[in-house]
Amino acid sequence: MTDKNLQNCIVFLDSGAGGLTYLGAYAELNPRPLLLYVADKKNFPYGKKTKNELVSILIELTGRIKKHFSPALITLACNTASVSALAELRQNFPDTDFVGTVPAVKPAMLASKKKHIAVLGTERTLQDDYIQHIAETAAGDCAITRLAAGELVDFVERRFEYSDKAEKIAVAKKYIKAARESGADALVLGCTHFLFLLDEFKEAAPPDIAVFDSMSGVCGRIENIFAKNDKAKTPAGHSKNLLLVTGAENAEEQWSQRAARFNLERFKPRDWDSA
Ligand code: DGL
Repeated sequence: MTDKNLQNCIVFLDSGAGGLTYLGAYAELNPRPLLLYVADKKNFPYGKKTKNELVSILIELTGRIKKHFSPALITLACNTASVSALAELRQNFPDTDFVGTVPAVKPAMLASKKKHIAVLGTERTLQDDYIQHIAETAAGDCAITRLAAGELVDFVERRFEYSDKAEKIAVAKKYIKAARESGADALVLGCTHFLFLLDEFKEAAPPDIAVFDSMSGVCGRIENIFAKNDKAKTPAGHSKNLLLVTGAENAEEQWSQRAARFNLERFKPRDWDSA
């Protein structure tokens, strides 16, 4: 595939594997457009960085992606990146459509009978004003327990492919227990990595704890923008979508497994690192 054929693809961007869940869901909804998944492993994990660091990393990376691919739109398939830098990216690249992924705090608040929800996310996401702002504007009488889970990001990034169902269920149960002990009756999965364990969270949750994610809303938003912009130029008829992993080659076996699972072909423009 030449670089020219890649123009107008739809980009999904995350620090690692998390956003693949969104790419997979969108590819099922609309298999036609060419999708490019960018795993910014060079800067993983985003959740331990400051807002300012993330803004500058993501402005640099977006510039690089635009130069090489002129994408039709960029999905920040990462809650941490979205709450930290979406506004700044829109300001810096006014000609580019961005779709963000933010924790499904509002629907969880509306559904909570106890008026108490728990949000599972990275440290950075949970520190951001975003959640406080929603709490104040959407449903002021609802309590929010913040459960920072950087180690769950690591589990998905490094161990998911090597762990069995029983271990995955045990991991999910630990956070459900923490949510329950806080008094919440809704648990928001506020990090795209956690959606690798969505089935386990749903299986492990008792009937009085509802699990929320923002997958279908995000896929719908991508599809609306795609349809509105009439991206007939978007490359179609490809047999595989593409996977670009930044930084030095790492965890090759895992990335091969992920590429196979999501039907992706590894790709890096020749001058990517020098640009
Ligand atoms: N997948 C990212 C998110 O949705 C976070 C992972 C990281 O800390 O790099 O927040």
